Amino acid sequence: MASETLRVLIPEDRLQARIRELGRQIRQDYGDAPITCIGVLKGSFIFMADLVRAIGGDIRCEFLGVSSYHGGTRSTGVVRITEDLNNPIEGQHCLIIEDIVDTGLTLDYLLRTLEVRGPSSIKVCALLDKAPRREVDVKADYVGFSIPDEFVVGFGLDLGERFRNLPHVAVYTP
Ligand code: PRP
Repeated sequence: MASETLRVLIPEDRLQARIRELGRQIRQDYGDAPITCIGVLKGSFIFMADLVRAIGGDIRCEFLGVSSYHGGTRSTGVVRITEDLNNPIEGQHCLIIEDIVDTGLTLDYLLRTLEVRGPSSIKVCALLDKAPRREVDVKADYVGFSIPDEFVVGFGLDLGERFRNLPHVAVYTP
């Protein structure tokens, strides 16, 4: 469409600098302990790739497919697991990795679903936090950036599967 616009909200260098900081902080908090990083697909795959390298040390990577938007710009409120973990997480320190927490419905559902599997601990790292939109009382333990209530794409986030490959986060205007 000719009229749609993208405005850079968080440039690549700020994203990378913040991810390095998050990685250092997370590794410091966990010490030498192994961390099972659980990437929530699809949006988190780019953030997770950078974050696990920034954390360093003993890391296992697992993925969980969840969908709630079904291609539009608004949440439907219906959370659905499209692909479950391949391995048990009992007795492990788990870190859920999200690209964005918006209404919080996805994260709330995931925490409730994973807690019953008996992990030693479960924390959340989200690159973006859109707190003004929260519908349930849930928050990430580690947040990259708090952002206003605008529709963002890039660095893993999409609109109908487009824009995930942008190296920055941008505000999309139709
Ligand atoms: C996005 C994002 C989170 C969720 C956050 O996923 O990756 O998982 O929405 O929204 P919420 O806080 O309102 O629940 P989406 O359903 O767009 O799927 P995708 O990651 O495959 O793009």
